[in-house]
Amino acid sequence: MAKGPTLITIKRAINFGTQLKSFISFMHMILQSLKRYLCTGAIIIFFSLGCQPKSPLTSDILGVTAENAMVVSARKEASAIGLSVMAQGGNAFDAMFATELALAVVYPYAGNLGGGGFMVYRLADGSTGSLDYREMAPSAAHRDMFLDSLGNHDTAKSTLGGGSIAVPGTIKGIFEAHKKFGLLSVEALINPVIELAENGYVVTQKQSERLAQYRDIITQTTGIQTLYTQEINPGDTIKNLALAKTLRQLRDQGQEAFYKGVMAEHMSHYIQAHGGVIQSEDFERYKVYWRDPVSFHYQDLTITSMGPPSSGGICLGQIMGMLESYNLGDLAHNSALYIQHLTEAERRAYADRSHYLGDPDFISIPTQKLLSRSYLDQKMTSFDADWATSSEDISHGPLIGHESDETTHYSIVDPMGNAVSVTTTINGAYGSKLFDPELGFFYNNEMDDFSAKPGTPNMFGLVGGAANAIAPGKRMLSSMTPTIVTRQGQLWQVLGTPGGSTIITTVLQIILNTHHFDMGMQTAVNQPRMHHQWLPDILQFESEGFDAQLLDSLEQKGYKTIQKEHRIIGKVDAIMRHPNGVLEAGADPRGDDTALGF
Ligand code: DON
Repeated sequence: MAKGPTLITIKRAINFGTQLKSFISFMHMILQSLKRYLCTGAIIIFFSLGCQPKSPLTSDILGVTAENAMVVSARKEASAIGLSVMAQGGNAFDAMFATELALAVVYPYAGNLGGGGFMVYRLADGSTGSLDYREMAPSAAHRDMFLDSLGNHDTAKSTLGGGSIAVPGTIKGIFEAHKKFGLLSVEALINPVIELAENGYVVTQKQSERLAQYRDIITQTTGIQTLYTQEINPGDTIKNLALAKTLRQLRDQGQEAFYKGVMAEHMSHYIQAHGGVIQSEDFERYKVYWRDPVSFHYQDLTITSMGPPSSGGICLGQIMGMLESYNLGDLAHNSALYIQHLTEAERRAYADRSHYLGDPDFISIPTQKLLSRSYLDQKMTSFDADWATSSEDISHGPLIGHESDETTHYSIVDPMGNAVSVTTTINGAYGSKLFDPELGFFYNNEMDDFSAKPGTPNMFGLVGGAANAIAPGKRMLSSMTPTIVTRQGQLWQVLGTPGGSTIITTVLQIILNTHHFDMGMQTAVNQPRMHHQWLPDILQFESEGFDAQLLDSLEQKGYKTIQKEHRIIGKVDAIMRHPNGVLEAGADPRGDDTALGF
């Protein structure tokens, strides 16, 4: 059983600090709205602001807690806007709309208008669903578009500039989610985001370092100096007036403003001028899909996650299915034997991912068979605790079937008990590195998630095949794994992470940490993480939290291990609902991630 707090206490003082001046107006708005709750006298408010524990990864720590509602995201401003929406009577879907746009303002590294994502939800009545707003290949895309004259994969083409861009889905995604479930007006949701873009946000140390790291490549790709290529220091305030203008158009004209007419014309011309092939009709053709999520059981848990075109749900289901019959809770957490179990299941699942998974509107995916117990048990019969299986000896089953955190995830629970789990991305850091100075955002480089050439790895080292080959109008296979876990029928966890190919194994480790090792959410998130993805046949570790002796013992059993300096795996933003109803956040100390709740 997970530990839960018995008392809701104010754990950390509200610390506005001089840096947070521009933030005060949001907080004022939230506090005004919170009065309603205070007046009931029934609710003690816990509120923590921008002071997430920057604790060592292994510490045992209770995350931010709240009684009613919570947002955990990559930035405090985005969490605050999402929370303020709920304090005004909005639900988790309203909060999603506002949080997603706020991330586009304050977290251009991954937050976006120029990308796409997936949302998994669970309503208070227990019903679940998912929304696919993944980007789509343009109609002029073709299978070999990233091959050079010798037939080799030209990785620059699939990752940089116009050619790497797929038709963005984010705006349609959030508008559709709002249309189906939202309570507040679009205007009420966008206005605070416009203010944020106009008044600016304060750059953190981490942000400034990242911008410095990518400044030259952004300048080269965009061809001119733009907002994000000036020298930007920690503490500087960035105002994005172009983005504020774009947001005003969306507020006044709705999603059509993005997918039809002047803006779509502009985007297609701009992308073509930078080597891309997207036409304005591609924007008009873009659709989002409400899809059945992938749902499976693990002991007394029910896990609901994203189905194709994300590999997340199926792959997570396969790994957990392979592990279920081993008593992982009896093994020491992160011991060699524990890590072997995870590695061998991960290796086997990723081999299937590579062969079977892709866009379900283009290929047929044997989901039931891939998740069937007999198939998964069969795959683990070759597991030998004394010696590593070689990835060369593993291929997809006979079914007769780098350091990165550049995506972003946010988790929301609203006062009505609805939960929303969203992972959104422009793929690489600052996507294609192509910034649109007129509209104020970066475009994705999601085309690299396709398999450009069978057998050659993409930027995450993932090797794909025909199932994920490029085709016009097709969606590229993703690893994004927005997930919701229930236990004995009750909402237990809302979670997800960025991290490319490591997303699935990161989500896995959080669920196992909480389920088998009784960790609360923040403690689970803080634990060091490992990853294996079949190919390359390398067992990766974060730089902190695994000692040389452990790695040696795995090497002696035939595992090729790697532990790079400064390597982090994933950046989880999660919520756990404790049995007493209290929400506990897990905001990853690996980033600037922040939980806010009331
Ligand atoms: O959809 C995917 O799987 C990738 N585009 C996600 C990219 C990501 O997580 C970037 N951060 N590492």
